Amino acid sequence: MNNDSNAKPINWLSREAVPEHVSQESVHKLSTNENPLGPSPAAIEAIRNFAPALAEYPPTGDGSLRQVLAEIHGKGLTPDHFFTTSSGSEGLEYIGRAFLRPGDECIICSPAFSVYNWAAGLQNASLVDVPLDPEKLTHRIDAILNAITEKTRLLFLSNPHNPAGTIISRDDMERLYSELPEHVTVVSDEVYIHYVDDPQYPDSVEDMFQGRNVVMLYSFSKAYGLAGMRLGYGIARPDLAARVAAFRRTFHLGTLVMEAGMAALQDTDHLQESVTLAQTGRSWLYKQLDRLGLHTWPSQSNFILVRLPVPAYEVAVRLLDYGVIVMPQAKSSMPDCIRVSIGLQEGNEAFIVALEQILGGTPG
Ligand SMILES: Cc1ncc(COP(=O)(O)O)c(C=O)c1O
Repeated sequence: MNNDSNAKPINWLSREAVPEHVSQESVHKLSTNENPLGPSPAAIEAIRNFAPALAEYPPTGDGSLRQVLAEIHGKGLTPDHFFTTSSGSEGLEYIGRAFLRPGDECIICSPAFSVYNWAAGLQNASLVDVPLDPEKLTHRIDAILNAITEKTRLLFLSNPHNPAGTIISRDDMERLYSELPEHVTVVSDEVYIHYVDDPQYPDSVEDMFQGRNVVMLYSFSKAYGLAGMRLGYGIARPDLAARVAAFRRTFHLGTLVMEAGMAALQDTDHLQESVTLAQTGRSWLYKQLDRLGLHTWPSQSNFILVRLPVPAYEVAVRLLDYGVIVMPQAKSSMPDCIRVSIGLQEGNEAFIVALEQILGGTPG
């Protein structure tokens, strides 16, 4: 049993988190911000079509994928503005390798995505934490600027922020860039960008073309529904993109990964459907969480952070009995919160029904 103190720790990242009595068919995995629609059918077809070619090595470079990325992004970007990696997480590792040396400082804004710490740790760089505003869970631009020293090299920004879901506005980014010294590069982690509908969201590509020191990070694990594939990429000035790309292995992306990625990029209908599903589900969930009187923060992502009036970890454990897996936030120093990914409507409903029962219908 999961809540037996002798049991092994619950792996919230996995469907196996649910107890044995819950059938796997009824599981709603709302803990890891994946695409509940699954991958694009075009990506699946590409995987099938290219499977027989697996005896041969993949193409020696990632030029074809970067070409498609440049076409999809438009805005005057060329393949030289891109670097590709086996996941956004690996992209963060390469960025760390490219920019950080022992003794350098690197700013994170906690609660921060754990891979930022790891990427800095690999280089023996020091982490400087500038926590989000404790009420609004937004980035504190002045505090970030005050934390910058001669040794600062990287500033990791999650925009939209995981797990808060909040964004840094265009105006705030402008203020930050206008005072940022030349020796600091912003890592704008935009893996949730597709779900944003706030016109205040900044355009980092435009910022880069205006000469700002920024490296953008993207992933195929979210709106493209390919988390199991492990594929990510970044955009930066060509000299910086080449500096990061220098850390790739030979044949760093397999044939199926590249083909599935290119097919997913070109299937704009699937992307649109995925984004609409998340945005519609997000609105519906906000109404329901509001009805239950629960505190939330404005998310521009495919998840919502929810504050509970009772110990959140226990609620997350009890939700497992209903087949609903969410992410408790104790490790993010928010023990009263859970993060719920937007699922299919049936998953969102299962979550709300279960939560309402657990909270007894009378949450504070
Ligand atoms: C903020 C943030 N950045 C980067 C990633 C990396 O994603 P992946 O390694 O699956 O591409 C994630 C994944 O959850 C994330 O939440």
